[in-house]
Amino acid sequence: MDFKIAVLPGDGIGPEISLQGVNVMSAVCEKFGHTAEYKYALCGADAIDKVGDPFPEETFRTCMDADAVLFSAVGDPRFDNDPTAKVRPEQGLLAMRKKLGLYANIRPIETFECLIHKSPLKDEIVKGADFVCIRELTGGMYFGEKYQDNDKAYDTNYYTRHEIERILETAYGYAMRRNRHLTVVDKANVLASSRLWRQVAKEMAPKYPEVTTDYMFVDNASMRMIQEPGFFDVMVTENTFGDILTDEGSCITGSMGLLPSASTGEHTPVFEPVHGSWPQAKGLDIANPIAQILSVAMLFEYFNLKEEGALIRKAVNASLDANVRTPEIQVEGGAKYGTKAVGEWIVNYIKEA
Ligand code: IPM
Ligand code: MG
Repeated sequence: MDFKIAVLPGDGIGPEISLQGVNVMSAVCEKFGHTAEYKYALCGADAIDKVGDPFPEETFRTCMDADAVLFSAVGDPRFDNDPTAKVRPEQGLLAMRKKLGLYANIRPIETFECLIHKSPLKDEIVKGADFVCIRELTGGMYFGEKYQDNDKAYDTNYYTRHEIERILETAYGYAMRRNRHLTVVDKANVLASSRLWRQVAKEMAPKYPEVTTDYMFVDNASMRMIQEPGFFDVMVTENTFGDILTDEGSCITGSMGLLPSASTGEHTPVFEPVHGSWPQAKGLDIANPIAQILSVAMLFEYFNLKEEGALIRKAVNASLDANVRTPEIQVEGGAKYGTKAVGEWIVNYIKEA
């Protein structure tokens, strides 16, 4: 395949991990006879500084023209600490999701055998946990009508049947390819929007008789996730619940620096790490590039290039086994590896495989 990739490095550690992702992409392409043409584009605080817009029109065009977007991270403390700031880096991310129609956010929660001790949960609870959260990404309170004055404020948790149906279809697709267990997470005991979700899901479930569908309130789901993560196979939920639950899920693994995600929908799909821009680590060569590198594996898998994805996963596992790890997951007394060194080791492994 001849890939056209839009690369959006963004802020903080973004550019450093982006480079490692691109290098891995190129190494895999070379190995399997693909080509990749990269076009870099601005986003986040970087784009605000340079052109005054966190998701400029030109970036949007570059994304639309590409087969896939390799996104890194946006966010800058200069904006977090200023409640009066009119433009914020995060608006760029939301604009990208909306404009590219990225309604399905796929966040796998996997464990790495050799890192289980890093999880705050007991080993026996974490072992074998392996599920996917499918988060609705372009609806709900994030995008519903908002209002704020000095005395009152509201956000509207608005969902249409169409939005619910298409995300449930995505979720059932994953459940069919996995262990055929779908958990619909909502708050149908309180919220009207959740009741519509549940109603639509109940209508749809008979279309997938091979899949066991169950329904769980979000408060209960957040508890179950740390009590018995092995219960879940595929979980589907609305935008806000998905935001919260996937941060919780990322802790099961032990390091946020390991988890990739994909956002797919109407236009170009986006592949990115789950973690943010970690501004304090910017330029220090300490950020873990693995989440970004695994997002490249998800990219290949999206195009049904399974061997390519599998080789990246194998290379990442080999790096962990060889203790070629960034500081936050390094074993005691283990050698010091930075972002670049881990990336280079993985690239070499791919070349020699
Ligand atoms: C995420 C992030 C974003 C979100 C922020 C940065 C706007 O937390 O991707 O989970 O809330 O969706
Ligand atoms: Mg989040």
